[in-house]
Amino acid sequence: MIFDFDHPPDRRGSDSVKWGKYAGRDVLPMWVADMDFAAPPCVLDALHQRVDHGVLGCGSPPMSLAGAITEALERDHGWAINPDWLVWLPGLVSGLNIVCRAIGEPGDQVLTAVPIYPPFLSAPRYSQRRVTTVDLRRAESRWVWDFGRLDRAITPGSRLLMLCNPHNPVGRAFSRDELTSIAQIAERHDLVICSDEIHCGLVLDEEIRHIPIAMLGEAIAQRTITLMAPSKTWNIPGLGCAFAVVSNPKLRRQVLDAMHGIVPHANVLGYAATEAAYRDGEGWRRKLIEYLRVNADRVEQAIAGMPGLSTCRVEATYLAWIDARPLALRDPVRFFEDAGVGLSNGADFGSPGYLRLNFGCARSLLDLALQRMHDAVLARDVPT
Ligand SMILES: Cc1ncc(COP(=O)(O)O)c(C=O)c1O
Repeated sequence: MIFDFDHPPDRRGSDSVKWGKYAGRDVLPMWVADMDFAAPPCVLDALHQRVDHGVLGCGSPPMSLAGAITEALERDHGWAINPDWLVWLPGLVSGLNIVCRAIGEPGDQVLTAVPIYPPFLSAPRYSQRRVTTVDLRRAESRWVWDFGRLDRAITPGSRLLMLCNPHNPVGRAFSRDELTSIAQIAERHDLVICSDEIHCGLVLDEEIRHIPIAMLGEAIAQRTITLMAPSKTWNIPGLGCAFAVVSNPKLRRQVLDAMHGIVPHANVLGYAATEAAYRDGEGWRRKLIEYLRVNADRVEQAIAGMPGLSTCRVEATYLAWIDARPLALRDPVRFFEDAGVGLSNGADFGSPGYLRLNFGCARSLLDLALQRMHDAVLARDVPT
């Protein structure tokens, strides 16, 4: 089947957060992690069918949904899970916040590495925990954890380590060795791991496979809460459906207890779409990956030709993390908005001077954005 990623629907004037931000301005929206593509036909068919039933009352996850997910995790990652380990969530950010409330006590320390998707920094604070960050290190063409620093940052009050794998924004899909080092540190210091794997279906590098950290062994599985969702891979974040995989019954109870009374169920359309995506969305996903690979190459090449900007190869996600510090701009986001390109601000991820570019869009739009960035960088008055 042919999927037309070159001609996505026009989102101007729709309910799109991404496009609404710059409504009425000639600024191409390359910011929030939301692709411009329509959902896969199998997902749209499932939604039509569900709507045609007509009744949209209170729903619970269909029996077949857990089966679709367990089969997909086994098929895609070789991860055999028990359907009883699943906890349904209305979104993954809710999951990050729930886990912060579920583990430890107010005042305890939560660790993560920056740059990082902003809710990793806000969720501990919203739960009266202290967040401690260690910097990821740029090692030539990729970002890596600094395990020594992580080890030294841990205190007796440390309870939770929040991992993002594949990583937003640096685009890494961490290797077995890297994950093993993280797991060893968690075991040595008795930390629970919250592993956000929402981007696991978006590994672009043909040499790399996503490894759920909970797959490393039984001991690590027992201390891990894995968060997943179909929303990034199949571009359905507007449907609000995610899940946690928690094999340890005590941890699972803690997660469920932290949800009581404040976390709504996922919605019935989200369930229908999620099942269709995991069961039948693989063909679309493969085509998407082919398309995104070419987009990633274009971004890499274009940025290499822009003096003062640099980026690393994106192994996974549709997000490029760009170092703009050498340009010494007072407001890098504003600079590129003035040039007609809307990017995410690195400061929100804990790294001022950086920018994040979303290339999950039609290639013609991406090329135009890259051209505008190129022209703006070259035309810039260099401070003397
Ligand atoms: C790492 C990561 N986690 C979670 C989310 C959002 O998840 P949700 O929309 O299910 O709350 C995103 C969205 O960009 C993300 O990149």
